[in-house]
Amino acid sequence: MRGGGWIRAIGLDLDRVAALDGYPYTIPAVQRLEDEFTLDPAVTFLVGANGSGKSTLIEALAVAVGFNDESGSDSITFQTRNSTSPLHEALRVVRDVRRPPTGVFLRAESLFNLATKVEALGPEVAQAYGERGLHDQSHGESFLSLALPWFGPNGRYLLDEPEAALSPQGCLALLRRIDDLVDEGGPFIIATHSPLLMA
Ligand SMILES: Nc1ncnc2c1ncn2[C@@H]1O[C@H](COP(=O)(O)OP(=O)(O)OP(=O)(O)O)[C@@H](O)[C@H]1O
Ligand SMILES: [Mg+2]
Repeated sequence: MRGGGWIRAIGLDLDRVAALDGYPYTIPAVQRLEDEFTLDPAVTFLVGANGSGKSTLIEALAVAVGFNDESGSDSITFQTRNSTSPLHEALRVVRDVRRPPTGVFLRAESLFNLATKVEALGPEVAQAYGERGLHDQSHGESFLSLALPWFGPNGRYLLDEPEAALSPQGCLALLRRIDDLVDEGGPFIIATHSPLLMA
């Protein structure tokens, strides 16, 4: 796995922070990293108000564990615009011995671009994600068509608001998949506003 083992704990390396009084070091979730934060071995939920820093943190962690900064997996990567904060450069990541060989990083706003990338990989790849093209499905349909086959065992998962497209039934389908994979060890880091996922 690029980027070393999974994440056991995170903190800030203050020696690598040029100025603590500017973005992203002023946002609440990042300020709390001045004390080391230990992750659950299977699944960690990042929950908080709009603007509290969940996406900033999950994007920095994704870079730290070897994803590119704009969603993807080992087989599907793309870059349309560099929009990640410099936080990953100052993150102190305590590693786990586990090195999940595959995985998925899903940014909150990347579904449309991911669907375009899957289509561009050709019909053989696209068929794995449903008989109809991802762009020919509704927002929630295309999310589930993509995510359910894509989330497999022995993966590392960083998901930002995976519920965004989903009805309560869709959210339960996603929850079942996550639950199965957590039974096999996870690990997941999920930023969410969904009461269903939190429950
Ligand atoms: N490039 C940037 N420059 C300055 N501030 C930024 C930049 N990008 C994000 N921010 C600010 O950083 C804070 C944290 O944003 P972030 O997107 O991480 O929040 P969030 O917890 O994911 O919120 P939401 O629940 O709305 O998705 C916000 O106040 C946001 O306005
Ligand atoms: Mg966010």
